[in-house]
Amino acid sequence: MSAARPGLERQSTAEEAEHDYFAMNDPPRSLQTHSAQAKAFIGHHASRDRRVVLVTSGGTTVPLENQTVRFIDNFSAGTRGATSAEYFLKAGYAVIFLHRQYSLLPYSRHYSHSTNCFLDFLREGSHGSVVAHEEYREEMLSVLRKYNWAKENNMLLLLPFTTITDYLWNLREIAQLMRPLGSKSLFYLAAAVSDFFVPKDRMVEHKIQSSDAAERNIRKAKDSGRETGLEPSVTSVQSKRLVVDLDPVPKFLKRLVDGWAPEGMIVSFKLETDPSILASKAHYSLDRYSHHLVIGNLLSTRKWEVVFVTPGSPDRWIRVPKHRRTKSLSGSEDQVGLAALKSGNAEATEGCDATEQPEYLSVEEGLEIESLIVPEVVKMHTAVMERTLGRGRIVDEARKD
Ligand code: PMT
Repeated sequence: MSAARPGLERQSTAEEAEHDYFAMNDPPRSLQTHSAQAKAFIGHHASRDRRVVLVTSGGTTVPLENQTVRFIDNFSAGTRGATSAEYFLKAGYAVIFLHRQYSLLPYSRHYSHSTNCFLDFLREGSHGSVVAHEEYREEMLSVLRKYNWAKENNMLLLLPFTTITDYLWNLREIAQLMRPLGSKSLFYLAAAVSDFFVPKDRMVEHKIQSSDAAERNIRKAKDSGRETGLEPSVTSVQSKRLVVDLDPVPKFLKRLVDGWAPEGMIVSFKLETDPSILASKAHYSLDRYSHHLVIGNLLSTRKWEVVFVTPGSPDRWIRVPKHRRTKSLSGSEDQVGLAALKSGNAEATEGCDATEQPEYLSVEEGLEIESLIVPEVVKMHTAVMERTLGRGRIVDEARKD
């Protein structure tokens, strides 16, 4: 990370940081279109008194050049977001799915990307037709019906982003548009958002060069930087090493909670790789931003366990029972329970497998952890709405499949 830049020595307030960020980093070209789509979608569901959830999903890129050839990215495929969106739809929510372009999407995720290539589910039928293999037909039909239902009933709005700046412009815009929904709005922030970026005013215009040509290019970039009194982010290419200088991205969770969506329920995710700090980092996040729920997860066990951290309640671990866990090449099942143990939550390490199973899955099938997370979030959202609206019991309206 870079040292403080001239003029930035003083800690700016969250509002100032917001102002500076959006003043200095241009909106994406799609913002106006997205805004119009979101406005119409929200209006449609507000008039039907429906709950609306904004699900964010996938990783944000950090471009290194203005005409972007190279960028920094992260691991997120959008599984958490796309899967959760399906369970929110099942729970009766209208879903705005703000996702990294080309990451997994609700419903189509079952048949996309290299692990589940859709062509493997198909075969040639009679008279040149294409049909689904018999063994997959029932499941495909079920997924297709849910997808069509969501489309026909205008329940799912897909809005793509690519860069960290695209993401933040969209997040702010949609959050502000959701304000009229009051406590009926829910923010479920599952995207893996970059903490560092190259600000527009320090980004080089053209592709970063390697070797000798690079020296000249960098010198030019530096020269243009000097004219504005700023150093470009790519500070040196020496012996073919590339040194990149990144600025911190302001934490916009604060602005979401205090300014953009003060009445909505806000759920953030906390990702860590070290089991010994997961729970404490999740608590720190909750204390700092004062929102409703932090869902902590470890990179290596995120498909099988998460921890719910809420104000004034003990940590609650949600786990997929051992015999229902799906295999994951990137995960480490032997680490399940470790973060609870390290946080001193010994009770949670014993007998803490989730017991409530959704009835629509047979006991042999693998269980998606999102099928356990989302109903818990929905219950909490109902409680928030009951408190805010000062009403008695609100009945959750789940869709019948
Ligand atoms: O997509 P998958 O492969 O299924 O993986 C899912 C996931 C692991 C990405 C997901 O479950 C998850 O943990 N998402 C959040 C990851 C993350 O950004 O964690 P963080 O510790 O960097 O940020 C915590 C919170 O601060 C996030 O809710 C984020 O919205 C917010 N944030 C982050 C950066 C930033 N500059 N401003 C923010 O407000």
